[in-house]
Amino acid sequence: MNVGIAGTGRMGAAIATRLGGLGHKVVVWNRTPAKIAPLVAAGAQAADSPAALAAASEVIITILTNAAAIDATYGGPKGLLAGDVKGKLFIEMSTVRPEIEQALAEKVRAKGAAIVDCPVGGTTGPAREGKLFGFVGGADADVARARALLAQMCRRIEHMGPTGAGARMKLAINLPLLVYWQAFGEALSLVQPLGVDAQRLMDIFADTSGGPNVLKARGSVVAAALEGRDTGPVGFDIESVRKDLQTMVAEAKAMGLSVPVTARALECFERAVAAGLGEKDGTTWSAHWARHGSPKVTGSRRPRPDAPARRRRARATGSARKPPTGTARRTTARSGPRRPSRRKISRAR
Ligand SMILES: NC(=O)c1ccc[n+]([C@@H]2O[C@H](COP(=O)([O-])OP(=O)(O)OC[C@H]3O[C@@H](n4cnc5c(N)ncnc54)[C@H](OP(=O)(O)O)[C@@H]3O)[C@@H](O)[C@H]2O)c1
Repeated sequence: MNVGIAGTGRMGAAIATRLGGLGHKVVVWNRTPAKIAPLVAAGAQAADSPAALAAASEVIITILTNAAAIDATYGGPKGLLAGDVKGKLFIEMSTVRPEIEQALAEKVRAKGAAIVDCPVGGTTGPAREGKLFGFVGGADADVARARALLAQMCRRIEHMGPTGAGARMKLAINLPLLVYWQAFGEALSLVQPLGVDAQRLMDIFADTSGGPNVLKARGSVVAAALEGRDTGPVGFDIESVRKDLQTMVAEAKAMGLSVPVTARALECFERAVAAGLGEKDGTTWSAHWARHGSPKVTGSRRPRPDAPARRRRARATGSARKPPTGTARRTTARSGPRRPSRRKISRAR
């Protein structure tokens, strides 16, 4: 089958390798052309635009960073939907909000093509081995059409409902996982004083209720990070963890749901990205937290050094903001002797 893959980042490249290895005629396009070179060297055909890729393919797979990347790849005069795509099948695998998949599906269907959303569980290793978990959304007939190819990429396929249902399920699956990496870092910081060998710690956590399934596959990476050893190639980076958590919080907000733990985990990962750790593997975050705690943020996020002077000047000229009504008591209390911070209290205990 002629399969086009638009977006050969970590996951797209792994999927292209898998499908090429199974004998499909794989056509590739990527915004940054250098990334397709190894795939072309391995036998894939290069397309010079998304439109050219769509013209050369029966099925088009996209697995891209976010909604903006989907817009850029599908839209515009050289986008995937620019030419005649009638009768073709699109498989959209990015982790984005359901409404993004729904809006895209309308555009695809308006061109006479079919589409399913199928974001996946599993990282680059399972993608190369055809062992992803596919969460599918779409009309029954379109899912039936996509199933044979999806089965070559996934160890398990679950049709969750109409368009966008796959995206919704994927966000839900990643939520406890990504919050876990933060929680695990906090747990590891508690056991630091024990001085226990990192791999033994992973074994213990993985064999108890304190460890989810992912520790069996990724515990060795956490152990390597705890020991400051090389953790191998990046699978899912911290920037992507932040992006997924942002997506979950946005989706929950749109639904009127409260997700306080997710929102707090997002703040921790935002800080990690601001501190320049965005390109590191998300799996190594727990170890980073246990070893160093919350990262120091430098640069533009730092409080401006002239802030106190500016505030003094403002007070002197009477232009300082008045505290809102109701804060008077708090202000008075703070003008007395300061209470020790929580950290100091816990140290004293
Ligand atoms: N990595 C994983 O383990 C994993 C697992 C499951 C799901 N996912 C999801 O799969 C998707 C891809 O992840 P990844 O890890 O493969 O990310 P990645 O390596 O960063 O690749 C992202 C891809 O999106 C493209 N892209 C980004 N912005 C674009 C734009 N404005 N226009 C056109 N193309 C653009 C990139 O092109 P350039 O190369 O030009 O930047 C690249 O091809 C994400 O939604 C992620 O959440 C990842």
